[in-house]
Amino acid sequence: MKAEDIKKIALVGAGDMGHGIGEIAAMAGIKVNLYDIKQEFVDKGKSKIKESLEKQVSKQKMTAEDMSKTIGNIQGFVVLKDAVKDVDYTIEAAPEILDLKVKIFKEIDEHAPKHAILASNTSNMSVTKMGAATKRPDKVVGLHFFNPPVMMLLVEVIRGNKTSEETMKASHDLVLKFKNFRGAMVPVRVEKDTPGFIYNRLGAPVGLYVSVLYDRGLVNPEAVDAKIRSIGAPMGPYEIMDYTGLDVNLHGMEYFSETLSPEFKVPNWLKKMNEAGALGKKTGKGIFTWPGGARPTIDISKADPNFDPMDIVCIQINEGTKLLEEGVTKSPAEIDKAVVNGGGSVIGPFTLGKGMGWAKVAERCEAISKKLGIKWFMPTQTLKKGNIQM
Ligand SMILES: NC(=O)c1ccc[n+]([C@@H]2O[C@H](COP(=O)([O-])OP(=O)(O)OC[C@H]3O[C@@H](n4cnc5c(N)ncnc54)[C@H](O)[C@@H]3O)[C@@H](O)[C@H]2O)c1
Repeated sequence: MKAEDIKKIALVGAGDMGHGIGEIAAMAGIKVNLYDIKQEFVDKGKSKIKESLEKQVSKQKMTAEDMSKTIGNIQGFVVLKDAVKDVDYTIEAAPEILDLKVKIFKEIDEHAPKHAILASNTSNMSVTKMGAATKRPDKVVGLHFFNPPVMMLLVEVIRGNKTSEETMKASHDLVLKFKNFRGAMVPVRVEKDTPGFIYNRLGAPVGLYVSVLYDRGLVNPEAVDAKIRSIGAPMGPYEIMDYTGLDVNLHGMEYFSETLSPEFKVPNWLKKMNEAGALGKKTGKGIFTWPGGARPTIDISKADPNFDPMDIVCIQINEGTKLLEEGVTKSPAEIDKAVVNGGGSVIGPFTLGKGMGWAKVAERCEAISKKLGIKWFMPTQTLKKGNIQM
């Protein structure tokens, strides 16, 4: 199947990601079956789409006619079989629990037409395992959008062990048809099914680093975020954690501790905050306070002079070289493209690190590893040898 043959998509899960992805697909003129387990969740998804489109109309970025056409492309469902029975493509956006996803894939496979491609919006988890739950693993792929899908441009297209090139290409080209409120969406191919894929995999050791610094009382989160903001980044690492949700961070670390290294063990502070229900933006309190969901006030004058943002860049580069060694992607430029389009960075880590010199980046990683006693930060052979073709 080719991208132009995809006329109808089912979104399985109408939460934050599902309704946002549905909105983009409907804006591209594709019919969308929006499914969730309860009518109230479907209705909530639909009303969020309407609200978001109305904002665009009020800013005169969309016509009222295009808004009604987009809404007209969306139909709600609470019976999975009905939602997937006549579609060309499905995108699962249910909670990040592997067993649940495997169960959903099995059910979608039973009811979706034979030609349909089945995608997952999983942030980190094994596309191969979801594919193995179906009778069409060649047609199962990861299609990882970022939050919120209407603003973030990156979409990772992930190959499971059995995903065919035809499925990869159709999914890649489908993303090329999508435009969100910021512009044309950017697909990046992930050629191997590895935990966290590209963007979140680079974020995993950074999360570990800032978590450990906080856990050991070595930094003040506001001072670190102030430092990062003072060099032009829209958000510091601690605010990002709160924004994403401390529950999501906890599950992410648990997954990485099982799949990458036990060194990703969930730190005490993160456990405690989860137990206390302080999950960040969604609960109004996390590392920072989010009054009524508004962003925390970070006093830039408190920037920590001892925190060097290049440490984070070095950690990202080192992780990127692991992806090159694993064959997840061939090119550091693709990794940079993923980082720039998936978050708020203006320049990718490899472009930044090249100016510093690979030997210095490697030295910095080794120093961090020794200081914290965490082997994961040790530089790879690729980085040590400077074997990086930009
Ligand atoms: N939130 C993010 O920042 C983000 C970013 C990228 C990817 N993701 C991934 O997207 C997926 C969804 O995340 P979210 O943030 O939208 O979560 P969410 O909790 O907002 O939405 C999940 C939805 O799935 C529904 N659901 C529960 N059980 C279901 C089932 N059996 N079948 C279908 N739907 C079911 C829930 O009712 C809910 O509406 C996860 O895999 C997550 O890792 C999340």
